[in-house]
Amino acid sequence: MTTPAQPTLTGEIPTDPEDFPVPAPLSGHGPARVIAMCNQKGGVGKTTTTINLGASLAEYGRRVLIVDFDPQGAASVGLGVNTLDMDQTVYTLLTNPKADVRATVCPTSVEGLDIIPANIDLSAAEVQLVNEVARESALARVLRHVEDDYDVILIDCQPSLGLLAINALTAAHGVIVPVEAEFFALRGVALLVETIETVRDRINPRLKIDGIVATMVDQRTLHSREVLDRLGDAFGDLVFTTRIGRTIKFPDASVATEPITTYAPNHPGARAYRRLARELIARGDAA
Ligand SMILES: Nc1ncnc2c1ncn2[C@@H]1O[C@H](COP(=O)(O)OP(=O)(O)O)[C@@H](O)[C@H]1O
Ligand SMILES: [Mg+2]
Repeated sequence: MTTPAQPTLTGEIPTDPEDFPVPAPLSGHGPARVIAMCNQKGGVGKTTTTINLGASLAEYGRRVLIVDFDPQGAASVGLGVNTLDMDQTVYTLLTNPKADVRATVCPTSVEGLDIIPANIDLSAAEVQLVNEVARESALARVLRHVEDDYDVILIDCQPSLGLLAINALTAAHGVIVPVEAEFFALRGVALLVETIETVRDRINPRLKIDGIVATMVDQRTLHSREVLDRLGDAFGDLVFTTRIGRTIKFPDASVATEPITTYAPNHPGARAYRRLARELIARGDAA
């Protein structure tokens, strides 16, 4: 077992031999790689991963757009965007082809990180889209208007495998699956993988699973370690080597409506998401 790097007497953090390099700055921006954050189970860390991976990529100079694709609007709220009475949201874009996509984008407190917000209006979209032609590609059509402005677009999906999830998978190049390190976590992942494969076969041949990220890991418990072993057995190299530990700092940061990377920049939780960003780039799944 490796021990985490400790600061030396001079305060330096020794380099971890298994770490991923800090990515080189980009000379220009776009077109974006679109990544859907997907798991039909709720409370597994989709929104937390979207916000903090997005903020970390932005710290590395990437231009990042988050698409809040959950009527709960947790990503919007978590980034300080008040969506309660907002009349221009992702719902407007999905249901009105003439709506101005750029005008719906909101900046966040993090430089280089923008969001297309969502609120409860989005819950009507699924029903409204059902009768549309090419209803699976409504989101893809929306994102075409802004793909050249960003390096990465992260879609924060709602916990379901309904039409909105299919829209996210149709718009995406890759999928990241956050999995909570607890015993029943693997249930349902097989169904998700099947859904991803169906979308790839029928609608979106470029779609791939970028990786599975273990969240809420408690390294001290045998239980967490067992779940990690089973994830590794089932999915091998698809599992990111970066794991996100369980810490109250994440809910604290959402209350403060900030990513952990600015709320507690040196906290292990912030460092973990920066490492995930570096791992994603090192794998070639982000610019
Ligand atoms: N690594 C973590 N440690 C502790 N709490 C976490 C962690 N990741 C997320 N949470 C908390 O768990 C809850 C569910 O996380 P969230 O990201 O909203 O999941 P999802 O979007 O999949 O429903 C939130 O209250 C969030 O603050
Ligand atoms: Mg969520």
